[in-house]
Amino acid sequence: MPLRPVILAFVPLAPASRADDGQGLYNKACSSCHGADGKGQTEIGLKLGAKDLGASKPTDAEIEKQIREGRAGEDGKLKMPAVTDTFTQQESKAFIASVKGFRKSKPPA
Ligand code: HEC
Repeated sequence: MPLRPVILAFVPLAPASRADDGQGLYNKACSSCHGADGKGQTEIGLKLGAKDLGASKPTDAEIEKQIREGRAGEDGKLKMPAVTDTFTQQESKAFIASVKGFRKSKPPA
């Protein structure tokens, strides 16, 4: 599927060089479900019920856990698969920064 333009108002929380990497990693590993804009309006995202990352408020630790372990829904079925647990600490920080970047750049829809 075509990649939509990267959000311009992304606010880096980590040093600038890592923030770019975070966005690139996000586009590769997360945007298929969560969308380039974080809203989850992709084919897979809608099917699985991905949340609008811009409207959600998990803590840093919860975001990291989500990426490393995935999350099951109320019914115990896995909704978001674990993306990977092999990220470096720095890479997971970059993901956290991109997830939170959606909150800063967009008011909840
Ligand atoms: C296969 C599809 C898929 C991929 C790939 C994916 N996610 Fe998710 N994600 C979901 C779904 C579905 C949910 C909602 C799960 C739930 O209801 O708890 C979710 C939930 C989340 C949440 C919690 C939102 C909240 O409000 O609690 C975060 C944070 C998140 N994803 C971050 C990421 C990041 C970062 C990546 C890339 C490393 C990623 N996701 C990759 C499908 C995906």
